This record gives sequence, structure tokens and C-alpha cells, in this order.
Amino acid sequence: ISLKPYNTFGVDVSARYFAEVKTLEELLGALQYLKTQKLPLLLLGGGSNLLLTKDFDGLVIQLNLKGISEDVINENEVLVTSKAGENWHEFVQFCLDRNYGGLENLSLIPGNVGTSPMQNIGAYGTEIKDTFVSCKVLNLETLQVEEFDHQKCNFGYRESIFKREGKGKYVILDVTFKLTAKNHSIKTDYGAIQSELQNLRIANPTIQDISKAVINIRQSKLPDPKIIGNAGSFFKNPTIPLSQFENLKLKFENIPGYPNGEFVKVPAGWLIEQCGWKGKQIGNVASHKLQALVLINATGNASGKEIFDFSTMIIDSVKEKFGIELEREVNII
Ligand code: EPU
Repeated sequence: ISLKPYNTFGVDVSARYFAEVKTLEELLGALQYLKTQKLPLLLLGGGSNLLLTKDFDGLVIQLNLKGISEDVINENEVLVTSKAGENWHEFVQFCLDRNYGGLENLSLIPGNVGTSPMQNIGAYGTEIKDTFVSCKVLNLETLQVEEFDHQKCNFGYRESIFKREGKGKYVILDVTFKLTAKNHSIKTDYGAIQSELQNLRIANPTIQDISKAVINIRQSKLPDPKIIGNAGSFFKNPTIPLSQFENLKLKFENIPGYPNGEFVKVPAGWLIEQCGWKGKQIGNVASHKLQALVLINATGNASGKEIFDFSTMIIDSVKEKFGIELEREVNII
């Protein structure tokens, strides 16, 4: 079966076996089959953060567990639990429709709820770790359901236990967030949100206004994966020691950086643009003309290997010009 419809890069590789599961029972059934056949496993959510570089000689399980439930704690706090297969943006809209606050800055991020904890998705001053309470996971070794609280997930910038020690060991089944029902804390520190709110002439934004502003910003510079294949930011923003940053500043006086103690986070998009990659296309692959950090399947016919090789060229040239080694944010399969 072709996996083209199941990855937002729109890369055409095939999988030997494919199963869509809608319940825990179906998942257990598919895993049982996997055991008897001794096949490798690839778990797919929304397919929005991976790059498939070759055919997969195993079983692909697409997680499609659906359902959202709510549990009111008090006047101002509510626990909302979503099954893994819900689309992330639709889940955010569900919360906003009920006036539950906390996820509005994360509007329009592609992918499913079940993959959101893996890389602690974040945008415009918010990460899911800010509202995350716990998630239920299936332990692939014991086939028991376990609960991971905030601490156990060990979140970092685009990181969690699920990308490190726990890699390949668990299936996330549902995720619970603690949201506000009344006294929302509005986060507008991110410059782009402030200017968009000004454009919209909104002085006292509601959580719905924030969502609208974020949607406008994203739509204005991030390519819609339904139209142009991509997986959002392809690289992480690198964090370098302050001393290294000061040295770079002598040579590149406009280099942007966000200080964080003894370290500085540098926008990878800027580094890539300075190396001349923004909007540049080689074969079927390009760096997006409005946001250099996003690699795109420009013709729709790019292979995973082509995209991977393109990303290697970017890493090499950023390394050569700035001495900074970019790290891929997208999972390479
Ligand atoms: N910049 C450039 N040229 C570019 C792109 C960016 O110079 O082509 C510089 C500008 O200085 C700009 C700065 O980079 O001010 C930051 O750019 P932007 O606000 O677009 O954010 P980002 O750091 O490139 C991160 C996330 C995005 C998230 C935005 C907004 C990562 C790896 N990426 O991008 O997340 O939407 O912030 O919060 O942290 C994703 O992970 O898929 C993703 C889209």
C-alpha cells in the first residue's frame, strides 16, 4: 500500500502491511499479528512530523482512536481528554468553542493529539507542556496500559521521553490537558501575535481572537500541507553557548538570538536564509520562500531521500558559515 496519503510531505513509499485501528482492541489485535509474523512496526498519527526515506517492509499501524471527554474540576478549571486519533486543530477548536483556554496559541498545528506529547509541540510562546496533565499509553512490551504524568514525560524543547528512552516502546492512547474555563491567561508576548492583533484592531483579545491571530500568521507564511507537501519546521532552533554567540555577533552583527541563561537560542530559519537557501529549489525539493526552516515537496514528486539529501546540504552550509550544527526536528524513517 502506498503511504503517500498518510504523510504530509506527500512522499510516495509503500508499506508491506497497513492497519487502521479505531479502538484499543483493534490495536491489540494488530500487535498480536505483528508478533506472530515478527514484523517491524511503524506507528502513524497524522504523519505530519516524519520523513519516509524508503519502502517499509513491515506493518504500519495508523492510530485512529476518536473521542473527547470533559471533567470539570471547579469554576475555572476543566480537564479535557482527547483520544490519540483526533486531529489536533479540530481538538483546539473544540476547546475554543466551549471557551476553554490554554491551547489557543497552538491553533492550526498539523497532526493528531496523540503525537503532540512526543515532541512537546509548541508555537507562539506556548508548548503543550504548559497545559499537559497526563497521557495513557500502551506499553508495547507488556501490552499493559500505563499512565504517564507530566514529570514522567520529561518534556524539553521539541523533546520528551517518547523521543528518547521511550522511543518505540509506547503507543500514546489519549492525552489529558488542564484548561481554564473562565479566567484565561492570554499570551501575547510573541511579537508576531502583537502585530497581528494590531492589524485586526483588537485591544483586549479573547482566547478566540488569539487563535484567529495565530491562524492568520501561520496561513501567511507556512505552506498548507494539503497543497504543498511539508512537515513544518524541518530543523530545531539550535541553542549555543553565550560565548559562541558573542563571537558570531562580531562577524554577523544582525544575528538574532533569544538568551536563556548561559545559552542563546538562534532561529534556524535566519541561519538557513543567510546561507542563501530561502526559496531555493533543487530538483523536486525547496526551502519555503516565506519561511526558510520549512522544506517543501515543491513538485509533489520528491522522494524522501531527495528531501533528506537537501537537508544535509543545508546542515553542511550552515555548519561551514556559522560553525553551528543544525539538528533535524522531523523523524527520519
Ligand atoms: N527567520 C528568518 N528567515 C526565515 C525564517 C525565520 O530570518 O526564513 C528568523 C526571523 O528573525 C524570525 C525568527 O527567525 O524573527 C523566528 O521565526 P518564526 O517566528 O517564523 O519562528 P521559528 O523560530 O522559525 C518556531 C517553531 C515553529 C513555530 C514558530 C512560531 C521550531 C523548530 N519552530 O519557528 O514551529 O510555529 O516558532 O512559534 O521551534 C514546527 O515545529 O513545525 C513549527 C512550525
